[in-house]
Amino acid sequence: MTKGYPSHVGAFLKLIGQSIPIMQAPIGSAATTALAGAVSRAGALGGFALTWANPEEAASAVTALRAATDGRSFFCNFVLHFPCEGFDAALEAGLPIITLSWGIDAGKVASAHRAGALVGIQVASALGARKALDAGADFLIAQGNEAGGHVQSTTPLQDLLPAVLAEAHRVPVIVAGGIATADSVARAIAAGAAGAALGTRFVATVEAAAHDVYQSALVGASAKDTVFTNCFDVGWPFAMHRVLRNDTLTEWEASGCPQAPNRPGEGDVIFRRGDETFPRYSDTPPMPGAVGSVQSACLYAGTGVGDIKAVEHAAELVSRLETELTAALANTGGHP
Ligand SMILES: Cc1cc2nc3c(=O)[nH]c(=O)nc-3n(C[C@H](O)[C@H](O)[C@H](O)COP(=O)(O)O)c2cc1C
Repeated sequence: MTKGYPSHVGAFLKLIGQSIPIMQAPIGSAATTALAGAVSRAGALGGFALTWANPEEAASAVTALRAATDGRSFFCNFVLHFPCEGFDAALEAGLPIITLSWGIDAGKVASAHRAGALVGIQVASALGARKALDAGADFLIAQGNEAGGHVQSTTPLQDLLPAVLAEAHRVPVIVAGGIATADSVARAIAAGAAGAALGTRFVATVEAAAHDVYQSALVGASAKDTVFTNCFDVGWPFAMHRVLRNDTLTEWEASGCPQAPNRPGEGDVIFRRGDETFPRYSDTPPMPGAVGSVQSACLYAGTGVGDIKAVEHAAELVSRLETELTAALANTGGHP
């Protein structure tokens, strides 16, 4: 099943029951059952965000994911800054793998283990890695400050990965942040990672719940168009994030980065979907069906965005990445 990957990669693949060392990172509201299903069926690890689900929604999401993944493994993410009301229900419904971010909770890890689930914990430092391991993490996700979306880290991956690996010993460490190509995954593997989680790359797939204006902006952008900021804080204050620069961000900076409620255009509705309205500075990225100034919304993107040349079908993307990863690893004189 593990096709001769280096042993630290093979051990991770065996642990999670998949065949390609690539994970679709949790991408919040942009994740869909169809995306997770396509990714997991193709042999990588698909996932879904259950942070904001109530128990009923969480249980039915896990049931739908089990069907969509066709018996392959998948994960659901919980951002511990929020109450995560669906956590127990998701486990009861048979969730095989959970990932925790923005917090470390040994009680939740123990509950997951009692239910037979594996737990990955996102970390941003060596000390964070030690605490996650003390809490019982089965694998670690080292998130560098190159990442799109909300960013725990202040450290680039090239410094963070060796620091986390030094703590992890035999526990697999996967990397997240700025990775959108098989070459980058291969480099991370050569540096000791057991695999990589790609977020922004999977936002630009047909199956993701992202507005086409957002997806086109990703295809047209480069790393220098991304900004690490706290501008889009409605819904989640005091959490840094990486987004594409747009007029909302530029005008806020031009005004001296004032705090709420004194920001330019504060309270303007910038897009709607059905009866729901989203104000400027909202942390919700625009979804399909959104109407309004979607280009002025929060457009999360990591520094790997310049490598995204097209919106692809998820299964084709995974298959292409697998082929390119095999070649990239062979070129380095390593495996497979
Ligand atoms: C649109 C979007 C939504 C995200 N939502 C979540 C989330 O709900 N939970 C989480 O732990 N991380 C979330 N992230 C961060 C990812 O887990 C991951 O760390 C990041 O995407 C990796 O960087 P990359 O985008 O450069 O690949 C999100 C990222 C993006 C782009």
